[in-house]
Amino acid sequence: MQTELSNALGIEHAVFGFTPFPAVAAAITRAGGFGVLGAVRYTAPGELARDLDWMQEHTGGLPYGLDVVMPAKKVAGVTEADVEAMIPPGHRRFVDGILAKYDVPPLAPGEASGWRITGWMEQVARSQLDVAFDYPVKLLANALGPPPPDVIRRAHDHGIRVAALAGSPRHALHHKAAGIDIVVAQGYEAGGHTGEIATMVLTPEVVAAVDPLPVLAAGGIGTGEQIAAGLALGAQGVWLGSIWLTTEEAELHSRRLTAKLLAAGPGDTVRSRALTGKPARQLRTAWTDAWDGPDGPGALPMPLQGLLVAEANSRIQRHEVEPLLGTPVGQIVGRMNSERGVQAVFDDLTRGFERAIDRVNRIAGRA
Ligand SMILES: Cc1cc2nc3c(=O)[nH]c(=O)nc-3n(C[C@H](O)[C@H](O)[C@H](O)COP(=O)(O)O)c2cc1C
Repeated sequence: MQTELSNALGIEHAVFGFTPFPAVAAAITRAGGFGVLGAVRYTAPGELARDLDWMQEHTGGLPYGLDVVMPAKKVAGVTEADVEAMIPPGHRRFVDGILAKYDVPPLAPGEASGWRITGWMEQVARSQLDVAFDYPVKLLANALGPPPPDVIRRAHDHGIRVAALAGSPRHALHHKAAGIDIVVAQGYEAGGHTGEIATMVLTPEVVAAVDPLPVLAAGGIGTGEQIAAGLALGAQGVWLGSIWLTTEEAELHSRRLTAKLLAAGPGDTVRSRALTGKPARQLRTAWTDAWDGPDGPGALPMPLQGLLVAEANSRIQRHEVEPLLGTPVGQIVGRMNSERGVQAVFDDLTRGFERAIDRVNRIAGRA
């Protein structure tokens, strides 16, 4: 699974893996792919530095990347407290109502509400970058459009390639004009924030739109056959996110959530604003049903929704409240049926890719 891009990056397989877990990112890199660590959950620069130190020790000099979430629209100068103050009381009551209905216990006194989602605020993302530029990171990806021009320049000065996710050819063209190096064409099937165009349609359109920039196909890819399809559509690599959630290295911290993922079918996800305020594909749960149902107050815009639900999510996860327990995940969850190590996932991907190539060769009369 080698392409011009994978050769340029010095990796064995043109398989890029997004993950919020350092152990998974390092294992992807060690398996011959390109691990990309999601930085959105790091609010203290020291924590990111600690995990990048760990990545350094566990990737043996092989390349890896970092993904930040820098909104295209500037919200510089706005503090978390300013955002908190903008949340309407009716929305807080709605959250309290769901928590009461499912008897979700509070956090222990002094127990910090985990993921505050402040990584979506520009100043937090910038502090993450200040840390990252001290490490030999080889790729900087941004989830919400291209990073600001000064960040792209700084990355290039450090010899770091810049990638940005795009859900439409229009977005991809915008990213190209901003000066990025790689476009991740992420389809509707994907876990996390996603647009409305399926990967099968999106990939060749983005490839044609941004030519000669390399494109990675993302969304709904979890088998080697699907990798072959993405590369056949013109992508120079694939970008996988969901498949790693049920690997042995993933630190989900909830056996119940892992069990839910292993049992879920391809129709058990929903694209909902309930988590962040922007449409994000995730497991369908009583939480998403409540927000998307007729009695829901409507999600608030990003980053208000994220702050509104942060503590509730921590409580749900801490106490593993089954009906409400969820995570961003894509439709490929239907193929995530056993817990395996990252290397075993790679072995399957390689075998599936070879099967697909053999099949196509037979069909084309070449074997
Ligand atoms: C749990 C989870 C969290 C994600 N968080 C981010 C993120 O912080 N930044 C980002 O660029 N993409 C994020 N994504 C999207 C992935 O980068 C990737 O594009 C997507 O997972 C690909 O589709 P797939 O889920 O079908 O593999 C996330 C995906 C998942 C499953």
